[in-house]
Amino acid sequence: MRAVVYDRYGPPDVLEVREVDKPNLGDDRLLIRVNAASLNRSDWEVLTARPVYVRLSGTGFLRPKKPILGSDIAGTVEAVGDEVTRFQPGDDVMGDIMWHGAQAFAEYVSVAEQAPLIVKPPGLSVEQAAAMPQAAVLALQGLRHIRPTEPGDRVLIIGAGGGGGTFAIQLARAAGAVVTAVDNGGKLAKMRELGADEVIDYTREDFARSSEEYDRILDFAGRRSIFSNRRVLRSDGVYAMVGGTMPRLLQAFLAGWVISKLGDQWMGVLLANPNREDLSYLANLAESGALTSAIEQTYPLEGVPEALQRLGQDRAVGKLVITM
Ligand SMILES: NC(=O)c1ccc[n+]([C@@H]2O[C@H](COP(=O)([O-])OP(=O)(O)OC[C@H]3O[C@@H](n4cnc5c(N)ncnc54)[C@H](OP(=O)(O)O)[C@@H]3O)[C@@H](O)[C@H]2O)c1
Repeated sequence: MRAVVYDRYGPPDVLEVREVDKPNLGDDRLLIRVNAASLNRSDWEVLTARPVYVRLSGTGFLRPKKPILGSDIAGTVEAVGDEVTRFQPGDDVMGDIMWHGAQAFAEYVSVAEQAPLIVKPPGLSVEQAAAMPQAAVLALQGLRHIRPTEPGDRVLIIGAGGGGGTFAIQLARAAGAVVTAVDNGGKLAKMRELGADEVIDYTREDFARSSEEYDRILDFAGRRSIFSNRRVLRSDGVYAMVGGTMPRLLQAFLAGWVISKLGDQWMGVLLANPNREDLSYLANLAESGALTSAIEQTYPLEGVPEALQRLGQDRAVGKLVITM
């Protein structure tokens, strides 16, 4: 089968399309023909081994342990192992396989049945389905973290024009929140189109210097100090950092723990829990038309390096999708 492989960390030039063996099935696994896959910031991080914690997270300290990247898939089950009970050949499935071997940028992938895979709703295109699993689940869990987002809540989404943020805008609006979306100037129009009430270009305006206060801050960028974010957080507000630089994540983890212990605010790092229930909820919402994957561009399998380059150069708005 064809796959996009790499054997050392680095820029997208280290990737090449090669013929490799089809993965083994195994008794508790599914062999899935990948119809579409989407890129996430986490693919860029595992490609480049930056931030540095990537090397410590089991992906390989000196070299990548797995030669193929890619977590989000929509595909068709080709074969199932003897112990598999929930799926059968021919099922169209979707899911985030980041913690279950990944390796989605290939024609076939072998995935354990216990991975957070679901049968794809029939009305959802493979492109829409592949764009959702990791980013939409992060957005949903970010908006439910500690307590649910409620009608009238003022929600600030930092990095709202990226993969997770474009889902978060729609989900926050659907919950009845008033949404302020922050990202670079090139993404403002898309953020408005997705429902943001107010948009801020972070290269021109500093939201932390405004007099606004927010009930919830969902931070997909993680570039600023937790203390500057705290300036615009209500006294009982929730601030969740989803991703960011190593120093910012550490600061949010440690200082956030102290802040959360001392008062009514909760500040800290969100740890995602990819699961079938959340993904089914989101996929059904998307099938009904109430949620959409903001897909900027689709590429063939050979286009994975170009797509990763676009993501890494911070030019992508919403999601980039690979179709086979
Ligand atoms: N917590 C967990 O369990 C978990 C699980 C999976 C993934 N993640 C992490 O989640 C993070 C976000 O994912 P994603 O897919 O949404 O990333 P993404 O698509 O890269 O989106 C991040 C957005 O933030 C913007 N941004 C950069 N600096 C900013 C700033 N100072 N202010 C406001 N916006 C800024 C980026 O725009 P520019 O183009 O301007 O850079 C981009 O649009 C990643 O770091 C990923 O590793 C976390």
